[in-house]
Amino acid sequence: MLLLKCAIFLTVITSLLGEGCDKNGIIIYEDLGCTPHYDEGNDCPSKYTCEGLEPSSTSCYFQGKAYQDGEPVEDDLLSRSCNVGCFCSVEEKPGFVCAILDCPEWLGVRIEPGCYRNYTLENCCSVGEICPPFDQIEKCVVDGEEYREGEMFYVEKSCLNCVCRKGFKGKFEEPFCTRRKCGQQLRYADKIERHCAPFYGVDSDNDVVCCPEVDLFILADGTEGGESEAEADSCKFGEMSFKVGQEFEKFMFADNYGKTHEKVKCKCVTPPLMKCIKG
Ligand SMILES: *[C@@H]1O[C@H](CO)[C@@H](O)[C@H](O)[C@H]1NC(C)=O
Repeated sequence: MLLLKCAIFLTVITSLLGEGCDKNGIIIYEDLGCTPHYDEGNDCPSKYTCEGLEPSSTSCYFQGKAYQDGEPVEDDLLSRSCNVGCFCSVEEKPGFVCAILDCPEWLGVRIEPGCYRNYTLENCCSVGEICPPFDQIEKCVVDGEEYREGEMFYVEKSCLNCVCRKGFKGKFEEPFCTRRKCGQQLRYADKIERHCAPFYGVDSDNDVVCCPEVDLFILADGTEGGESEAEADSCKFGEMSFKVGQEFEKFMFADNYGKTHEKVKCKCVTPPLMKCIKG
C-alpha cells in the first residue's frame, strides 16, 4: 500500500514538471485531452491519440469530449484558461462561443493602497485583496525571489502556474502549482481541424514550450513538402504527413495576424501535430 502511494505521488510530480518533455510541445496535447503513448526506454510520450482533431459537422470537441449544439462546458473545466460561459454552437461550423472574461485587474480597477491582489490556482481573476497587517502571511522564496501568500509565480523552464500559499516548502506540486491550460479548442477549433501547427516563439529545439505563442498556428499552403499518404504515427499538417524527425522551413512567413516572421521551422517531434519554432 505504501509503495502504491509513493508511486502515485511520484507520477504526479513528474507529470507536473513535465520531466523534460515540455521541450517536445506536449502541453497542447494535455490541453486537447489526448492520450499519451510511450515507447520503451523513453520517458517522454512518443505520440498521442486525440479525439476531435478531424473535422466534424455536428459536434464541438473540448479536452477529448464531444459537445452537441448548445451544450455548455462546465465552468470549472474552463477557469484556468481564462474562459467562461462557453457553449458549443454548430450554426456555421462547430465551434465554441464564450463570454468575455474581464478581470478587474485587466480593466485597471485600483485596489486599496498598501494591499495586493489575492490569486488562487482555480481562478483566472484575482479573488480579492490582501491588506496589512501582513504578519500572518506566508512567504515563498523561489529562485531567490520572495512572493507573498496569494501572489502568482512561474517556475523557469516549466509549464507550471504557481501561487504562494500556506505550507509551501519549495516543492512545485499541488496545491501550489499546476500545469498550464491553454484552452486552444475553445477559440481555435477551426485551426486544429485544418491540421495547422502550433507556433512557439523560441529559437531552439531544446527550449521548453507551453501554450502556442499569441495563439499562433502555422497554416499549410502546400509548399512544405511531406507525403500525401498518411503513415501511422506521423504528423499531420494540412493535407500532408511528415514522419517523426522530418521538418520544413519557411522564410518571411506572414502569419494570420499580418506579422512577418523571418524564419519558421516546423518539425514532427511528437505526433500528431507538427511543432513550429522560430529556429
Ligand atoms: C485568498 O483567497 C482564498 C480563496 O478565497 C482564501 O482562502 C485565502 O484565505 C485568501 N488569502 C488571504 C491571505 O486572505
